[in-house]
Amino acid sequence: MDKSYFSEDLIQEIKEKFYYVDEDNLGRKRLFFENSGGSLRLKAAVEAKCKYEKIPDCPERYHDISMHLRAVKEKGIKDLLEIVFGAKSGEGALVTELTASQVMFRIVRAIVENTPGTNVVTTSIEHPSAYDAAEFYAKRTGKEFRVAMANNRTGGVDVEEIMKHVDKNTCMLSVMSASNISGNILPMADIVKAARAVNPDIYIISDAVQHMPHSVLHVGEYGLDGMNFAPYKAFGIRGCGYGYVSDRVAKLSHDKLLNKPEEEWELGTFPHPNYAALSAIVDYVCWIGGHYTKETARKTLYDIGMNSIHKQEHSLLMRMLNGSPEVHGLRHIPGVEVYLDNPEVKDRDLISAMGIKGMNDTELRKEYYRRGVTVFERINTSLYSKRIVESLGLTGCIRVSPLHCHSFKDIDQYLKVTMAIAKEYSK
Ligand SMILES: Cc1ncc(COP(=O)(O)O)c(C=O)c1O
Repeated sequence: MDKSYFSEDLIQEIKEKFYYVDEDNLGRKRLFFENSGGSLRLKAAVEAKCKYEKIPDCPERYHDISMHLRAVKEKGIKDLLEIVFGAKSGEGALVTELTASQVMFRIVRAIVENTPGTNVVTTSIEHPSAYDAAEFYAKRTGKEFRVAMANNRTGGVDVEEIMKHVDKNTCMLSVMSASNISGNILPMADIVKAARAVNPDIYIISDAVQHMPHSVLHVGEYGLDGMNFAPYKAFGIRGCGYGYVSDRVAKLSHDKLLNKPEEEWELGTFPHPNYAALSAIVDYVCWIGGHYTKETARKTLYDIGMNSIHKQEHSLLMRMLNGSPEVHGLRHIPGVEVYLDNPEVKDRDLISAMGIKGMNDTELRKEYYRRGVTVFERINTSLYSKRIVESLGLTGCIRVSPLHCHSFKDIDQYLKVTMAIAKEYSK
């Protein structure tokens, strides 16, 4: 695709809906290409959080204000379960925590401690929150911990490799929806099908923290037992992590007030301003969807909006990799190395792993910052990255993660900066 999926006018309108797209909070012009670490914030989400934080009333009372707050909460829960996670109507339960990591540990604990099976399977490219949760509870329950290894040509994990580890005694399989280093989208539908063919009772969960801002999620259609994400990586606010659990997981033993229903996973009064912020994110994605359809159902608008975001991001990714007659793309700049970049992988999320020959990644990140580009290095001296980058055959890389609100002009600016650095430093 050599054209931007979103028109220039739409991109301008979108940019105005976010804080600090082109300038940082100190008024300095810069490109924020570090959205995988925490994304640009949607004004409407921050404002919704702020609006409802001002109101002291408890949503568990019966006067008008209280009832309104309860409606905000109920809308947020429905938006999360049915619109964002894609649960079937009335199915599953919501897990609320401060972070996506806490959500992951709670779900893994409930499954591994309370269901039969003698082994737990995950992959070598999981974020530590998913990997460590699986290892920790496998060890605690005396179950074997098994790891499917990455395919370092694609930046993902092959279904066949996962299936070498899954058997009829596998209690839980945990596979991330998309890699936070390569952007590779794991084929969850195929993975679920293959795993359930061997073991129909297996519990399958997926970390969607990186995937959720780029694609529609499908817990209901795929029959997943658990999934999580965090709004601060998805245009929203910090301080909340959300999870979906299937009906059978919801009923498993977990921390809760004893007299609440067995499938209740909210512990304490989760802040309704966070739900308001989440509904503002859904409204925004639906608004994008409204540019591409006349349908009015919220789920349809959201799915079309998110698919449009994905198409816009795909056009940005192609521009970044291939360039244009005016500006070389990453694949063509002398001295630049693009990692985990396999042209056979037709679709992936907007993340690219790259480096400059002979240049240390930390130095490169600093040099980008000096030249007005915020990116981040994922390197094997970091506890968050070591296992992942090494299993992908790297010692490290610069992770470049723009967002759908960026334009071809922004990508070209990044490429020009890259070209200048490569010319000066590559050996
Ligand atoms: C893929 C993935 N999973 C989980 C997390 C953990 O999110 P949090 O720090 O909100 O717990 C991150 C954060 O970087 C991530 O990238």
